[in-house]
Amino acid sequence: MAAEVDGAGRDVDVHQVVDGAALDVALHPVRQGLVALVTGGASGLGRATVERLVEQGARVVLLDLPTSPGGQLAKELGERCAFAPADVTSAEDVGAALTLAQKEFGRLDLTVNCAGVGIAVKTYNSKKDKVHELEDFQRVINVNLVGTFNVTRLSARLMSQNKPDADGHRGLVVNTASVAAFEGQVGQAAYSASKGGIVGMTLPIARDLAPLGIRVVTIAPGLFSTPLLAGLPEKVRNFLGQQVPFPSRLGHPAEYAHLVQALAENPMVNGEVVRLDGALRMQP
Ligand SMILES: NC(=O)c1ccc[n+]([C@@H]2O[C@H](COP(=O)([O-])OP(=O)(O)OC[C@H]3O[C@@H](n4cnc5c(N)ncnc54)[C@H](O)[C@@H]3O)[C@@H](O)[C@H]2O)c1
Repeated sequence: MAAEVDGAGRDVDVHQVVDGAALDVALHPVRQGLVALVTGGASGLGRATVERLVEQGARVVLLDLPTSPGGQLAKELGERCAFAPADVTSAEDVGAALTLAQKEFGRLDLTVNCAGVGIAVKTYNSKKDKVHELEDFQRVINVNLVGTFNVTRLSARLMSQNKPDADGHRGLVVNTASVAAFEGQVGQAAYSASKGGIVGMTLPIARDLAPLGIRVVTIAPGLFSTPLLAGLPEKVRNFLGQQVPFPSRLGHPAEYAHLVQALAENPMVNGEVVRLDGALRMQP
């Protein structure tokens, strides 16, 4: 058995034996040149994920809208990052992004679905006698839910071509829902429906792809400090942070990226929705 010293100076057994099998055989260290596709990679949680993966030694296709700063960011991150200008709702665009992954980096091991949009509109506002526009509802469902499914189905086809490891593992898809999937607030009908759809499809897709050795896991973040919330006044941001039991603050995008890496490295997590929210339960 080999031993290393961890950050706290303790001896750590890196070849721990569990039920007679060496644990490290099944782990998938990101540093081993993993190839990832991250949607919504130009901003917020997606951007933090791209940065962490590249820093850890992975090669990453950063997918985001052509109007996003994704091209500039990919350039700054160097040759281990390529930009795919694409809309997640387009089969053609996502197909081109996957072709880029194959052409540039030869394979695909990990897809992280971070692209998403949100709106705050009441189902019916009696004071203004205004009903929720159907087009707005459909747009949010289309980007958040249909877009996630589109990227997942096409990623699965490319991942299925990977040579399986000793465990039969070929790849992982990480989706991003929200705590709004469980505790949607006033005005979140469309957003919550889209995120609830992501939660609902996590297990069936994991079951669909299990015979291929492809895992599917969904992260449901609470409140994170991304451009989505950056526009709010400092007072409101502080108030939101105080709603979180512990730690009482907004989450850092790097904490989301850290969980993506942990999920990539631990092959036993599958078909599950993981809340990342400091025990937050949203009020109406
Ligand atoms: N920030 C939070 O507190 C929070 C909480 C829960 C869930 N989420 C979810 O996490 C994900 C990322 O959120 P964020 O805060 O980083 O948002 P963000 O706005 O900072 O980033 C979202 C990115 O998605 C891209 N995008 C939007 N529509 C797209 C499309 N059709 N095709 C391709 N790219 C598209 C945008 O250009 C943007 O770069 C979203 O799905 C969001 O719903 C965020």
